[in-house]
Amino acid sequence: MMKHLKYSQDKEGVATILFDHATLDVNLLSEEVLLELEVLIEKLSQNDELKTVLFKSAKEGIFIAGADINEIKSLTTQEQALAKVRQGRRILSSIATLKVPTIAIIDGAALGGGFELALACDYRIATENPKCKIGLPEVSLGVMPGFGGTVRLRELIGLQKAMELILGSKQLNGKKAEHLGLVDACVPSGYLSFKEAEFIAAINSEKGREKILSKRHKPTLLERLGSALIFSFTEKEVAKKTKGKYPAPLEVIHHFKKIQDMNFYEALESETQSFAKLALTPESKHLISLFFTSERLKHDSGVGKDVQAKPLHRAAVFGGGTMGSGILWLFSKIDIPVRLKVRGEQQIAETLQAVNKNYMAIKKRGRLSQREIELKLDLISADTGFRGFEMSDIAIEAIVEDVSAKETLYKILETQLDKEAIIATNTSSLSVSTLARSLKYPERFVGMHFFNPVNRMPLVEVIRGDKTSDGSVATVIALAKRAGKTPIVVGDCPGFLVNRLLIPYIVEAVHMFEEGESFERIDTLLLDFGMPMGPFRLVDEVGLDVGYKVAKVLEEGYGSRMKTAPIFECIYSDMGLLGKKKGRGFYTYIKNSSEVNEAVNALVTQKHSFSDDEILDRTLLVMVNEASRALEEGVVDNAAYLDMAMVMGTGFPPFRGGLLAYADERGIESVVARLKVLSTLYGARFEPSRLLMTMVQEKRKFYKE
Ligand code: NAI
Repeated sequence: MMKHLKYSQDKEGVATILFDHATLDVNLLSEEVLLELEVLIEKLSQNDELKTVLFKSAKEGIFIAGADINEIKSLTTQEQALAKVRQGRRILSSIATLKVPTIAIIDGAALGGGFELALACDYRIATENPKCKIGLPEVSLGVMPGFGGTVRLRELIGLQKAMELILGSKQLNGKKAEHLGLVDACVPSGYLSFKEAEFIAAINSEKGREKILSKRHKPTLLERLGSALIFSFTEKEVAKKTKGKYPAPLEVIHHFKKIQDMNFYEALESETQSFAKLALTPESKHLISLFFTSERLKHDSGVGKDVQAKPLHRAAVFGGGTMGSGILWLFSKIDIPVRLKVRGEQQIAETLQAVNKNYMAIKKRGRLSQREIELKLDLISADTGFRGFEMSDIAIEAIVEDVSAKETLYKILETQLDKEAIIATNTSSLSVSTLARSLKYPERFVGMHFFNPVNRMPLVEVIRGDKTSDGSVATVIALAKRAGKTPIVVGDCPGFLVNRLLIPYIVEAVHMFEEGESFERIDTLLLDFGMPMGPFRLVDEVGLDVGYKVAKVLEEGYGSRMKTAPIFECIYSDMGLLGKKKGRGFYTYIKNSSEVNEAVNALVTQKHSFSDDEILDRTLLVMVNEASRALEEGVVDNAAYLDMAMVMGTGFPPFRGGLLAYADERGIESVVARLKVLSTLYGARFEPSRLLMTMVQEKRKFYKE
């Protein structure tokens, strides 16, 4: 009796194995499914009537989404990992050795183990269904394909492209997959059954078969004679991207090198060994855990299930600066007509220029054509007054960070907008409840904090004021998801979540500079820890004005533990430095290069060198301590969401799983002991929070095992 598979065979001997997971919306190659498949394939191998086998899915938009990642995460020993992956490999190999032609019909996502199954078939047909995504993204989870995928893919498309696809965790649509040779044909979904019959007829004739196979990859001269070149280029690329922090890409390259002179079966076994090694690394466990959090967030509406998000047909953006232009671009990109309000004609031109710059970057990557961009730009209109905003379903305010300027604008908005329209503020530090005080309808007012630059940063903090309605929260969450962002609901406290943690980190680094440490060294150490850039480069990037102002808001909100370093004020106010945007901050910027700004360096005459550990502990543990307070106050729902916000909002190294996962890994007891030492040396800002102390007493971690 089969649970997840359905089997049928027509009178021509064409059999169909239909994947239809009994309890999930997606098909996964879990152990249970694989074992069922094994029995079925065994039966088919003895079926003399059989002429062709088709592998299909009954799920809309999904072929097979992959192996069961929960099963990978739960592997704890080498033996378990080897056994698991050998089992999958054996079952897929039994498909490959069937005596009749096998065809994977991919009309939806075929990822990881799902695509490995397709690779074990003789032929593959994809469709133009937009949900058709094909690839082997295991590296993004810290592992690599383990069911024979690396070896079969190299045979199918060659070494260079196989490594590119796997190392980049690329997911291609049907057309691109056909172009790369991953599938033999890509057909419109509507014609699938017709094309399928045509394809079966073709592979049953010698000529037809030859025609299909003639399109397959033939090893290039570079592959035959210059694989050393391919490896050295790929190694350099990977080193640049991952700085050696991620074991999976390195293992993939090592594996492909190793199997060069092996036969097919030895190569498969080498893949198995490499997979088992990676599956046990902490990096993989962390990346998988972040993957699950992102899945959880995708299904989290932020409010009760029965709350409906308001449909958004038209939008408005107020303010055309750094953030306004990014948000304007985002609306047009997701095909929502949007109207901009700025203060002068010149600003309209500047804002549209910034929007266009974002589009040109997409065009360069081949994601949109000029025609498609023009259609999107056509969705934007602009005004220097308040005409034409009454049709907007949502208005996002991104004007200067100033309470009275914002309140003045809201007063006008309440007279100009429909009274059902949502007003969202992109404030980075002001209290949403306080800003709502001036409004007649505060329930439609909500915080929607995008990060800079809007086109690249995936996080949106959604802030609920004390009067914000559930509907308003649900609407901005749905909007953020529609825009491809990850929204996380956070509490209405100074700095919300991310800035509340990030600013103390920056300020602590500035304290150390003031005490005599080289800021370049602090930057280098944190870069080496895995941050995308050190704190001084970060504040230069964000703008010293922005950073300083937010630091002041936090100082006001939290008092002495967030007191800013006096030298920060001197650099911003007295020296008037603004950071990268004006060419001078902690560093000076000329074209694409930068160097230490000696004028800033000269501010500190006494030099003092801290140990590496001291520098890392002061900057990182000050964040851990504040994070535990935020968690205790309920600023964010749980540790996993907090970690995701830090990864997405600050680039906290994903291979570490996030800030609190890092604290867990160090051990809460040791974190607290270290904080106590730091508090005697540097003051009360390091005193461990109540939550941390309780966790030590109760031997708890942020994450349950
Ligand atoms: P910006 O200085 O680039 O742009 C501000 C815009 O507001 C300009 O269009 C300006 O003409 C307009 N403006 C200035 N005074 C005004 C007034 N009295 N009335 C109406 N409009 C006025 O600022 P940016 O960086 O775009 O920031 C806008 C908002 O987004 C602020 O609330 C800021 O805190 C927030 N934010 C900024 C981030 C950043 O990294 N720059 C990140 C996330 C949020």
